[in-house]
Amino acid sequence: MEKRKYKVGIVTLSDKGSRGEREDLSGPKIQELLPDDRYEVVSYRILPDDQPAIEKELCRLADEEHCALVLTTGGTGFSVRDVTPEATLVVADRVAPGIAEAIRAYSLTITPRAMLSRAASAIRKQTLIVNLPGSPKAVEESLTYILSSLGHGLDLSLIHISEPTRRRG
Ligand code: MTE
Repeated sequence: MEKRKYKVGIVTLSDKGSRGEREDLSGPKIQELLPDDRYEVVSYRILPDDQPAIEKELCRLADEEHCALVLTTGGTGFSVRDVTPEATLVVADRVAPGIAEAIRAYSLTITPRAMLSRAASAIRKQTLIVNLPGSPKAVEESLTYILSSLGHGLDLSLIHISEPTRRRG
């Protein structure tokens, strides 16, 4: 079977990161974990924890960049500035809660603090949006766990955008 390659957008939500006061290690960690034979990162931005700005960026990645997958990191906790799940759900057409639930369930086997993530997962048009927690460690634990099922979901659903890799000749 021909394998499809998926366009991915990465968004890091961090007030300090967006002001250049903290190096973002989590966005690059996502990029590092995505196998490059299946995923092509077409956009990576660091934004402040500002809900309208996050909504605008998610819409841009879905509607203009036509990403099959958008991965966010950060802004899922309990601080008043943590609004990533709200922005995600505002722009969503359909919820896909199983992914966020699976991340929390697996993460709870690592740390009870996983219950503090309010992360959401949802679909806008043909784009799957998954919120990951903010630390590089949490990103690695979460993304590694969902990666194989994520690929299967993208393969089965209509949310593939890029053309399958054509056989030569
Ligand atoms: N999930 C995993 N796998 N590993 C972690 O270390 N940290 C938790 C949680 N999820 C954690 C995790 C903590 S301490 C918080 S506060 C929440 O994610 C929210 O993180 P965020 O506000 O950086 O998004």
